[in-house]
Amino acid sequence: MLHFGGDYNPEQWPEEVWDEDVALMRQAGVTIATVGVFAWSNLEPEPGRYEFGWLDRVLDRLHDGGIKVALATPTASPPPWFTLAHPQAMPVTADGVRLTHGSRDTYCVSAPEYRAAARTIAARLAERYAGHPALAMWHVHNEYGTDCRCDATAAAFRTWLQKQHGDLDTLNEVWTTAFWSQRYSDWAQILPPRATQYLPNPAHVLDFRRFLSDELLSGYVEQRDLLRAANPDVPITTNFVQGGWVSVDHARWAAEVDLVAVDHYPDDAGPGAEEETAFAGDLARGWGGGSWLLMETAPNLIYTRGRMHAKEPGRLTRHSLGYVARGSNGAMYFQWRQPRGGAELFHSALVPHAGPDSPVFREAVGLGRTLKSLSPQVADAAPRTARIAVTWDAPSWWALQGGGRPSADIDYLAAVRQAHRALFRSKLETDFVFPGVSTDALGDYRMIVVPHLYLVSDEAAAAFRDYVAEGGHLVVGHLSGIADPAGRIRLGGYPGAFREVLGVRVVEWHPQPPETEFALDDGLRASRWAERVETAGAQTLARYTAGVLAGAPAVTRNRFGAGSAWYLSTALTDDSLARLLRQVAAEAGVEPVLPGLPSQVEAVRRGDLLFLFNHGPEAATVPLPEGEVTVQGGGFRTVRPAGCGTPGGTPTGMSSSPGRSGGGR
Ligand code: GAL
Repeated sequence: MLHFGGDYNPEQWPEEVWDEDVALMRQAGVTIATVGVFAWSNLEPEPGRYEFGWLDRVLDRLHDGGIKVALATPTASPPPWFTLAHPQAMPVTADGVRLTHGSRDTYCVSAPEYRAAARTIAARLAERYAGHPALAMWHVHNEYGTDCRCDATAAAFRTWLQKQHGDLDTLNEVWTTAFWSQRYSDWAQILPPRATQYLPNPAHVLDFRRFLSDELLSGYVEQRDLLRAANPDVPITTNFVQGGWVSVDHARWAAEVDLVAVDHYPDDAGPGAEEETAFAGDLARGWGGGSWLLMETAPNLIYTRGRMHAKEPGRLTRHSLGYVARGSNGAMYFQWRQPRGGAELFHSALVPHAGPDSPVFREAVGLGRTLKSLSPQVADAAPRTARIAVTWDAPSWWALQGGGRPSADIDYLAAVRQAHRALFRSKLETDFVFPGVSTDALGDYRMIVVPHLYLVSDEAAAAFRDYVAEGGHLVVGHLSGIADPAGRIRLGGYPGAFREVLGVRVVEWHPQPPETEFALDDGLRASRWAERVETAGAQTLARYTAGVLAGAPAVTRNRFGAGSAWYLSTALTDDSLARLLRQVAAEAGVEPVLPGLPSQVEAVRRGDLLFLFNHGPEAATVPLPEGEVTVQGGGFRTVRPAGCGTPGGTPTGMSSSPGRSGGGR
């Protein structure tokens, strides 16, 4: 069944509002409410004094209304009394400033006092609610991510390093501590990266990022295990977040949750929002192995850079179904009712300040109906149909952040998003693979695109080589294969780990200003980056045309075993990258989802159901294997095309145009 609902914070409202909440939820077809995420100070107003009465009444009311509950542990926001009792459990910034309460996420996950308090409140909730009939899942914490550099963190970091590296000689070696006299002669000398005079040691910073991800994970696992012991049948998760500040490696975390739950907030007001939605959905599906849940997104106003943007009619529906098409088992929002005060008082909600007589609530009611009718039509997991994958690797992202890099314009996330966007615009279905975690899935794809995969282990390098030798099509972008997992450069020429399979050797980097575009001799355009490439078996497909690199190879292809490996030594523009990836896809024998799709129409397969989204204002005609269908401007349609389900390209009856309140029948 597809979930529909979101964060519900009744503790912010007098009880008379709760009845209206449940009535409106029923009207909208809400199936699930996430309760208690930030309710610690209401649940435990004083140390050891619990007030569960209000939560009992909330859960009972929801249950009476037929609405399920994702019950949260409130550990992302300890109450003020906790801070005052345990100041040492507050996070310390790299500058040595100890933060205090007043916002949220103010805790140190390594502080024993915080961990004990988190376990206690989680255990009390488990004790009281593990058997509640409304309980559908546990939602542990909220968006794990708080960074801390305090002494407790230092101690935990050292323990982690000892497990990782064994002895100090090894650590000194892999951190290259001989540079700038950083050799450690005692574990006690190792601190978390803190404010220092000039550039920090990148290996130290990288290990700290890995440690922090593992340390936060251990905080989750501890709560998960006690919730599980209370009722092994209730699935347990925590909401992963996507975005630039993310401090955990979700590809690794995915193994520890019963279902991957993801928060996603696109921040582009234009068509970029649909591209972001597609990216997030594909990445989440990868983490979840086909199945995941959109736990939070904004119902209306999108935070764009510096200003909020109201979603146009129909966009809430298209975005929400966009995630569902990409494997989410529902659509949930932050939040149900827009608050009267508090830090996020203008953040959009399903019931806005204006009340239910509002465009967003009306669209929500239609969306609820649509999700209900779609429920029996979608399988629990989205079967894998993409033949193309893009690599994702959080440690490579972390390694490419910070100072000391060859260009300040290097941006891992932007490079991965660009690769995905180029495929999205080319209507090519895309999955993600996680070579830092496992290379088992590589062979499932005809084509793999590798943007900025800076850190590569010997095993992963061998797996990519075998993949090509066995007939795969590999497209490697610059800044890939440069270092080993510890961040030490692979010597002998870039892109070290991929030199053999690519048949090239890069002897010099030529970073370029981002504002200057330049042309390659086959018409492709690029900016930001160039390299001196020597071919060693590869064929040159495009050359640089100006400057000291004029005439030198820029894009190459190497036939290797039964497959081919392309190397892009420069940062192609969006159009050029899309053109090149289409050529590779054609060589790999991968077709777009549907031939002849109008540019504003997005088509996504989930099992035998085809979702068609018209992101443009005008109606569009979509050719199907048999016949054609019209999708209204700003609307969507689901069909079962011949060849993947019901014969004859039968419209399933699900369609909407934004003008009609509702959407779906
Ligand atoms: C999420 C968070 C929510 C809310 C939302 C606002 O990241 O989990 O609590 O703050 O952002 O967009």
